[in-house]
Amino acid sequence: MARIVAGVATSHIPAIAAALDSGKSHEPYWQPVFSGYEFSKRWIAEQKPDVVVLVYNDHASAFSLDLIPTFAIGCAESFAPADEGWGPRPVPVVEGHPELAWHIAQATILDEFDMTIVNKMDVDHGLTVPLSLMFGQPAAWPCKVIPLAVNVVQYPPPLGKRCYALGRAIRKAVESFDTDLKVMIWGTGGMSHQLQGPRAGLINREFDTAFLDGLTRDPEALTRISHLEYVREAGSEGIELVMWLIMRGALAADAKENYRFYHVPASNTAVGHIILENS
Ligand code: DHB
Ligand code: FE
Repeated sequence: MARIVAGVATSHIPAIAAALDSGKSHEPYWQPVFSGYEFSKRWIAEQKPDVVVLVYNDHASAFSLDLIPTFAIGCAESFAPADEGWGPRPVPVVEGHPELAWHIAQATILDEFDMTIVNKMDVDHGLTVPLSLMFGQPAAWPCKVIPLAVNVVQYPPPLGKRCYALGRAIRKAVESFDTDLKVMIWGTGGMSHQLQGPRAGLINREFDTAFLDGLTRDPEALTRISHLEYVREAGSEGIELVMWLIMRGALAADAKENYRFYHVPASNTAVGHIILENS
């Protein structure tokens, strides 16, 4: 059977990609950001997952205001890096796992989650930056990736509680897939950040630290954070953190924190990262 062995959460700041792709990762500004992922890169090279279910949000790259799926699962064979205005990132094409993706789509829809099925989609920094942070710059990504896009761009995004419940449904789905596969689930985005308006540049270290603590100790409490509280405490883009709750919901209640990293600044944003392992 397939099983979920671990969860990873990380910010997906596009400036990180720009730094990496243009060979600036050793510059004094960026070095502390990338050094925070050295442990994680060694860890995942040992773990060798077969598949990552990668929860992220599209930033008007594949979708636009014409079409806004709340939850969308990528069932294609492959997903090309999106052109976000400077041409596609020079990173490998993302190879999907259509069989497991369709199985998760079927299982979650029959479990009352109205998932949108996507058979053609480009993937933007929300998905490719986490891959770069965890795997560096390989010629090909070392595992299959199932993109799971969540709308956190246009109000109303899903509630944290719903995201957590979806995570649980994904876990059930993966565990009922009849092939031996080592699966990870990643949640991306966050932490506190606001990119526009009078509060642009907002960082709330206290909120972010409490969120990281809560992921390990009391994730159920995090599911009660309201939309208004996310915006007030974590800024307008801090709402991306609901995607971390999908990751957490897919893990065992007693999953253990294996690693944590928090750093300010990277671009306008707090970089947050955590690894949780099922025992
Ligand atoms: C930025 C964009 C993002 O999508 C994000 O999550 C964090 C930062 C940015 O443009 O700096
Ligand atoms: Fe984002």
